[in-house]
Amino acid sequence: MIRDAVADVVVSPSDLILPLFISDAEDDVPVASLPGVEQLCVRSALRTMHDLSSSGLKQFMLFGVTVADKKDSIGSYAADPDAPVNRTMAAARDGGLDVLLYADLCFCEYTDHGHCGVLGGDSATVDNDRTLERLAITAKVQADRGADVIAPSGMMDGQVAAVRAALDGARHGDVAILSYAVKYASAFYGPFREAGGCRIASGDRSGYQMDHRRRDEWRAEISADIAEGADMVMVKPAAGYLDVLRGVKGAATVPVAAYHVSGEYAMLHAAAERGWIDFDAALLEVTHAIKRAGADQIVTYAAPRLLGLL
Ligand code: PBG
Repeated sequence: MIRDAVADVVVSPSDLILPLFISDAEDDVPVASLPGVEQLCVRSALRTMHDLSSSGLKQFMLFGVTVADKKDSIGSYAADPDAPVNRTMAAARDGGLDVLLYADLCFCEYTDHGHCGVLGGDSATVDNDRTLERLAITAKVQADRGADVIAPSGMMDGQVAAVRAALDGARHGDVAILSYAVKYASAFYGPFREAGGCRIASGDRSGYQMDHRRRDEWRAEISADIAEGADMVMVKPAAGYLDVLRGVKGAATVPVAAYHVSGEYAMLHAAAERGWIDFDAALLEVTHAIKRAGADQIVTYAAPRLLGLL
């Protein structure tokens, strides 16, 4: 009891954000590499949010899953008001669900080449500025459909300013921006790419994501994003970057989120399945470590499980 009394790192349900993958399909499809995670149809996504919100988990980060024939080179389906994420948000608003909705804003789930933006003339690298135009168009649709927070995750330079201008110009000044300011090119995103149906056809994301061998690069990333109007900044991945998270928390003038990413979550399951670790104990330990390092909000696939453990 005295241990509980002096424990000063506390994770509560209001700290957690659950990612949901939403598709146009009629049924839900389990994601093999992410136990407990499914690609949800719109109906199931709404039911999931309804059920979890009554247990105190009220924040959801929505990712789209796109069938191949709706993908194109610029990811235009992301801006379709009837695409699954946009449809889900509108229905959640119509139904009066008591939830905070973060719309992921990126194109890798919507492009046929799998990159996070529009490709340039060489068809190999992303054209930053043409991508900003698509981000602005898409953010406006997401806000029109009911997003509370827009979460640009593609690491384009100037993305926060472009999204802020688009939102303000469309009378969405009250819609916030969670910027993935500090996002490393990581091997730990593997299962996400199965969940989001977004394998890269060729190349990698090192042109726009950060290099884990650079200790202080995050400083430039967060100051640029905060200057452009970010209301919250994200560090991603989380568990392997606790030093960075701590630095960001000390330097940022806005709240800080951390994303315990798909590979980090999947590893806990894989080891627990073999009987090598205790899943719940390891989950609590790493989640508290992320909080201890400075996260105000934690994006985690384990949010429903944590509700029963905290
Ligand atoms: C895409 C995006 C990725 C993740 C979140 N948004 C994948 C990537 O950048 O390749 C990964 C999240 C996870 O692994 O859980 N912009």
